[in-house]
Amino acid sequence: MSENIESVLHEERVFNPPEAFAANARIDKARLAELHEKAEKDYEGFWGDLAREEIDWHKPFTRILDDSNAPHFEWFNDGELNVSYNCIDRHLETRGDKAAIIWESDEGDSLTITYKDLHDRVAQFANALKAQSIEKGDRVVIYMPMVPEAVVAMQACARIGAIHSVVFGGFSAEALRDRINDAGAKMVITADAGKRGGRTVPLKKQADTAMEHGCPSIEKMVVYRRAEGDVHMEDGRDVWWHDAIDGQSTECAPEIVDAEHPLFLLYTSGSTGKPKGVQHASAGYLLNAALTNKWVFDLHDDDVFWCTADVGWITGHTYIAYGPLAVGATQVMFEGVPTYPDGGRFWKVCQDHGVTVFYTAPTAIRALMKLGEDIPRNYDLSRLRLLGTVGEPINPEAWMWYHEVIGGGRCPIVDTWWQTETGAHMIAPIPGAEPTKPGSCTTALPGIMADVVDDDGNSVDPDHGGYLVIKKPWPSMLRTVWNNEARFRSSYWEKFDNKYYLAGDSARRDRDGYFWIMGRIDDVLSVSGHRLGTMEIESALVSHEKVAEAAVVGRPHDVKGEAVVAYVICKGDRPTGDEAEAMTKALRDWVTQEIGPIAKPDDIRFTEGLPKTRSGKIMRRLLRSIAKGEEITSDTSTLENEEIIPQLQGKA
Ligand code: WTA
Repeated sequence: MSENIESVLHEERVFNPPEAFAANARIDKARLAELHEKAEKDYEGFWGDLAREEIDWHKPFTRILDDSNAPHFEWFNDGELNVSYNCIDRHLETRGDKAAIIWESDEGDSLTITYKDLHDRVAQFANALKAQSIEKGDRVVIYMPMVPEAVVAMQACARIGAIHSVVFGGFSAEALRDRINDAGAKMVITADAGKRGGRTVPLKKQADTAMEHGCPSIEKMVVYRRAEGDVHMEDGRDVWWHDAIDGQSTECAPEIVDAEHPLFLLYTSGSTGKPKGVQHASAGYLLNAALTNKWVFDLHDDDVFWCTADVGWITGHTYIAYGPLAVGATQVMFEGVPTYPDGGRFWKVCQDHGVTVFYTAPTAIRALMKLGEDIPRNYDLSRLRLLGTVGEPINPEAWMWYHEVIGGGRCPIVDTWWQTETGAHMIAPIPGAEPTKPGSCTTALPGIMADVVDDDGNSVDPDHGGYLVIKKPWPSMLRTVWNNEARFRSSYWEKFDNKYYLAGDSARRDRDGYFWIMGRIDDVLSVSGHRLGTMEIESALVSHEKVAEAAVVGRPHDVKGEAVVAYVICKGDRPTGDEAEAMTKALRDWVTQEIGPIAKPDDIRFTEGLPKTRSGKIMRRLLRSIAKGEEITSDTSTLENEEIIPQLQGKA
């Protein structure tokens, strides 16, 4: 078992659901027990009943789980539906005038979009897509800032059965091009620019660069005007969003698709240099997205939900673009950043829009915690009733601050463990029914058979580390890695003979069965809540003309979670002094250009060699402890080049 599976946290505090909260919760203790029991006794019946209750089917299904092509599991596969219909149209009669999205811009203006408005915007844009010859099954890349049109574009794709692939606006032109080409996308939807924290992000310009560097499948680019800046519009290829919708009807019959029709691709990092196109299917994804908004976020009709994620990540898909809409909720969508114009921005948005359920990442909590309690105390946060976190383990200190300072001690905290691949929350508390412990994502949701196992797939004893696995398929699981069947199998299924889904995290369970996530077992980092593959950064570095070899590891960072440390071997002599400084800057810029600013190394150390085993494998564990500045206690005599260590430590 890998070296990072050693548990270090000993947290004894337990917080019971507050009575006032429990009294009104959608799921109480008795209902939770019932759900677990049903899932244990009749797994398929459990999911089948929920799928009938939560989804409006155009044609009902008769088959629940089809495992004949495992590990490509299929769910409800003889049923038919439309996801956009389920997120919008079915609410029109009862909630047409209810706010679906309350958008707040970077500058602080706000805009309320009702379900009826959302319907009209989505239908109109769906018609525009059709007019630009987008058809069912075509891939459409969405490279947008956090404006409502990003959600409109996603929903419009779902409405006509096109498959969207959202690329985070913080990714570079090169990263965009790679994702476009892997997906074979016909269209890019972007904006002239984005606004974030008072700065302008030149999205269109980056998309143009991507096109120049070769995106042969792209036929059209739709450009939403956000920033009023001057951009180049390519004749015959580029069309303004406002021109594309001009004259289009606000009625567009939803395209009815099979339950398994691909809803979207979302590229995510793994252990190799190339990101994986995680593919989700329509009905199964919709089901878990809707259910978890009810079970974990306990969304009621009068709640105002706010998920602070960007739509470029899975969190922004499931808890902005689909889930809250599927359950008919009101949500806040925010364009800006937590610290602009000052560190009170999140709390001001909560106050101004009466947010009741707030979902963010530990890195944001830590950053805001550093600014002190006086800032949040200036705002009225009394409407908040539930808080959530996602993306990495939350340290108990930040958990307690969140609980006391933001939640006033009255709001349960749901620490939600899940992944791009799982589509929706997997391990998380049901807030009105389960006690929480700071730092633990608690227990698996009903119907999610999560466990911690050893190399042979046997459950480990309490408080022992092991591999986090899910032992039965679930509806919102990924269906495949786009264009890469081999990677789908090797990343998730081969380790346990196609029986268990391998999450790639290590974890332990305590004596109460609570899960504590310990970290990744592969070379994936979580930097400010963004999932980054060390190999991706390494390949970017090595593609620089002066770099011969590179190894990237994470180092713990008190705000970002992890910082990126790169060990670099240059062609020719090892740079020192001014030359090293100039090279550091050049490489940081290079990585920004190749992947995006989020992947920029915090620290670059030049060396003449990397620690390797005699079989030529880089000893990442050793690099990690060197990056942390730890004393080296392990035996390094098995290294091929032990003499390199002082140089790596900066001692030579
Ligand atoms: C980590 C984000 C601890 C984990 C939804 C996982 C977490 C990876 C938690 C997925 C949590 C996510 N506690 N770790 N509550 N939530 N992670 O695909 O390592 O961007 O495998 O999905 O984030 O990252 P992804």
